[in-house]
Amino acid sequence: MKSVLIKLFLTCCLTTTIISCTQEKKKRVLNFPDTNLAAENLIPKPLQMIPTNGGFALDKFTAIYTSQNATGYEEVGQFLAKKIKAKTDLDVQVNVDEIPGREGVIYINQSDSLELETPEAYQIYITSDSVILNSNSAAGAFRGIQTLRQLIPEVSSDTLAEYPVWTIPTGKIVDSPNFEYRGSMLDVARHFFSVEEVKKYIDILAYYKYNVLHLHLTDDQGWRIEIKSWPKLTEVGGSTEVGGESGGFYTQEEYKEIVAYAAEHHITIVPEVDMPGHTNAASVSYPFLNGNGKTPKLYEGTHVGFSTFDTRKDTVYAFINDVVREITELSPGPYFHVGGDESHVTKKKDYIYFMDKVVDIVKQYNKIPIGWDELATANVDSTSIAQYWGSKENAEIAVKKGMKIIMSPAKKAYLDMEYDTESKFGLHWAAYIPTDSAYVWSPEAYDGIPLENILGVEAPLWSETISDISEAEYLAFPRAIGYSELSWSTEENRNWENYKVRLANQAPYLERMNVQYYPSPLIDWKKSKNTFEEIKKD
Ligand code: ACM
Repeated sequence: MKSVLIKLFLTCCLTTTIISCTQEKKKRVLNFPDTNLAAENLIPKPLQMIPTNGGFALDKFTAIYTSQNATGYEEVGQFLAKKIKAKTDLDVQVNVDEIPGREGVIYINQSDSLELETPEAYQIYITSDSVILNSNSAAGAFRGIQTLRQLIPEVSSDTLAEYPVWTIPTGKIVDSPNFEYRGSMLDVARHFFSVEEVKKYIDILAYYKYNVLHLHLTDDQGWRIEIKSWPKLTEVGGSTEVGGESGGFYTQEEYKEIVAYAAEHHITIVPEVDMPGHTNAASVSYPFLNGNGKTPKLYEGTHVGFSTFDTRKDTVYAFINDVVREITELSPGPYFHVGGDESHVTKKKDYIYFMDKVVDIVKQYNKIPIGWDELATANVDSTSIAQYWGSKENAEIAVKKGMKIIMSPAKKAYLDMEYDTESKFGLHWAAYIPTDSAYVWSPEAYDGIPLENILGVEAPLWSETISDISEAEYLAFPRAIGYSELSWSTEENRNWENYKVRLANQAPYLERMNVQYYPSPLIDWKKSKNTFEEIKKD
């Protein structure tokens, strides 16, 4: 009798028509080893988690169903299926015709529940036979599926089943971001990064629930975006980079490809054209722009503050109008970054005159101007945003004007700062920023900036010392993972001792993604393989 039952059980579990196997499948689920919903693999830490005892079996019978008349939900379901395939090799189907009695369903639903108070909020209910993810927008669903991805174990569970099963612990997760703006910046001007490299950076940012990638597209050393009405910007200004390498630029088609890829990851691209300083590459291309009285030459060094546009020429503003028009036409996001930092050779009155005019141009194209914190010193008001990178005085001016502030204090959030004196890349003019120091600070209460002014957090990665994505990854990771928690999770939910265990558990993901992270000795990495060292030694 016993052998007949075992045979029946195996037959049922091996067959793809699972209708008749309901009992056996349920039994198998109950046989799972203890699993407890906990944040041990989750970064950023969710607002609230309520574990129940049990496991949801992610296996070859699992299917995903999404709201079908809510924009973007099906795409979120497809994205999850693709990532499940990459992690487990399971082919999970999306919105296939319902099979009666199917177990193991992941539902991704649009919901107008008032509990989902922000567009990116989501709730997940995991039971032994279903996962229900509710959000009021596709962006919320997308953030929620990152949590699900992190809950799927790296290896399949040891069960009685004849086929692999990944056990997701049951319980309820309620989550919502602390800040609405959660960004990182790539300086593609000092060293150029290819479309594929930028896409890889987007992949990792999305996994940690970032929603902004700011591209620093222009600087003294290079102009990186095609402007059709001013072709020499890229022909001449795009030809160099720091250290004498060959530079590069994005065609408008390539830039659109980055914007679209970011949008699939619910990430907004913030384009930056830095001005009136940091403009040598533009002025070499079109010398009439130059306002520093010298003949501009291509520049491959790393000094700052020597260049400026001529702020008193109408033709300069006609040029800027074209640049802003062409870039905003390609950029669906709400922001345009005008730079405005370190204009050391622009007279103060000229700087104010210039920034006022540029902010007006940006607004004419229905974009919200962002500038580095110096922008607050122009005649701007609460409709512009200041990106704080270190000046308390500028931050105070911004607060008095009622401006929103993006927190990027160089001493804490600059990804290009060295970890310590042994760092292979980076600078240390602001600070050494080891992995703990990057995490242990409060964007909610920094330099006296009131919480109500803070739009969010951004971690900029300047590229003076790095020339490819693996070097960028060394500086960005693991610190950018910590900034995701600083911008998403509430202060009460953040704790270094707890975080460092969760960070250690990111190693398998980072290694699977071939991310050349810095293996900080402060972290007891789940896998201690130092891939970066190995690659560099080869
Ligand atoms: C900056 O670091 N110059 C914004």
